[in-house]
Amino acid sequence: MIEEIAASSRSCVSARNDDPMHLLAIETSCDETAAAVLRGDGAVLSNVVLSQDEIHAPYGGVVPELASRQHLKSVGFIVNDSLAVAGMALADIDHFAVTQGPGLIGSLLVGLSFAKGLAYFHKKPLIGIDHVQAHIEAAFLEHGDIAFPVLALIVSGGHTSLFLLKKRLSFQLLGRTRDDAAGEALDKIAKFLELGYPGGPVIQKLAGPGDPRRFGFALPRMSDRSLDFSFSGLKTAALRIIRESRIAKSDPRLPDFLAGFESAVVRALLDNLFRAAARHDPASVLLCGGVARNERLRADFESRARRSGLAAYIPSPKLCTDNAAMVGALALTRIEHDNKGRKKTSLSLDLDAYPRMAV
Ligand code: KG4
Ligand code: ZN
Repeated sequence: MIEEIAASSRSCVSARNDDPMHLLAIETSCDETAAAVLRGDGAVLSNVVLSQDEIHAPYGGVVPELASRQHLKSVGFIVNDSLAVAGMALADIDHFAVTQGPGLIGSLLVGLSFAKGLAYFHKKPLIGIDHVQAHIEAAFLEHGDIAFPVLALIVSGGHTSLFLLKKRLSFQLLGRTRDDAAGEALDKIAKFLELGYPGGPVIQKLAGPGDPRRFGFALPRMSDRSLDFSFSGLKTAALRIIRESRIAKSDPRLPDFLAGFESAVVRALLDNLFRAAARHDPASVLLCGGVARNERLRADFESRARRSGLAAYIPSPKLCTDNAAMVGALALTRIEHDNKGRKKTSLSLDLDAYPRMAV
């Protein structure tokens, strides 16, 4: 399903300047083919996302080779669609941006090669963007006045990491998952119970009326003072309850079980975030990435931030899951930063993809 995310009006327009520059961003790091056109002042003119959920659903998870092949088929018309929605032609684009990593290497290479082809043919600069940092940028895209230092929790199907940003574009990694990402744990339990893919939204829906206290989930604790996360223990605990209590898809106790599992994942994420907040004393906390669409997580994040006296920001749901507007927004911030330092962004035909987090 192609989704054309309405260009947010004022919230996306930063007061940069009246720069008539236009940038086209491409994102193909996992299982969404996405393209967006942004104006130099930060306005999002189009943000088109083609999800591959239907392709991967029968397997209960992303099949890397199928993902790359589908990007190869879709990237051309998704770029065309993003230009059409923005009312522009390729010749009007002054700058290209593309996700460079982390992600599935085959998928990244499709977007990167396509973007290089465009930059080469049109003789325009190309900038490579980090996917995890772009998820964080989604919060800045909608909220221009976030106070620093910032503590950012990024939670998705591939990543669960905590960053301290003392200022714009400075990303200090405080903790990351030692095993599964939070979204991956949700996806795996949904797959085991044959509930559908992606697991996060299905679990949210089915857990809705459930009582999270019926099944007890103990949270994992790191033995050191580390701010790392771990979800494999929770996943094993969930599988044990499924086996011992014979929970199945049609079981009337399913909502209680899922509510318990979902709230344990939420607690594990937020306990670590607010432990980090107590240690690092930020002015603001951000929640980003695909799992940040989760309603229980959003509500608990906001109420715990309020209790701690911290300003809290979450991108709107459609900017939490993978999209190219966040990639374009980070590209504009980086270009503006480079321009101030009189650093010229080059054609960058030597950009390489990277599968794992660069930090
Ligand atoms: O950020 P994203 O689109 O892709 C990655 O970079 O990984 O995140 C996808 C993840 C999947 O694991 C999916 O199950 C999860 O986000 N997700 C949710 C919800 N919507 C998407 N998890 C919990 N509740 C949701 N409503
Ligand atoms: Zn992502």
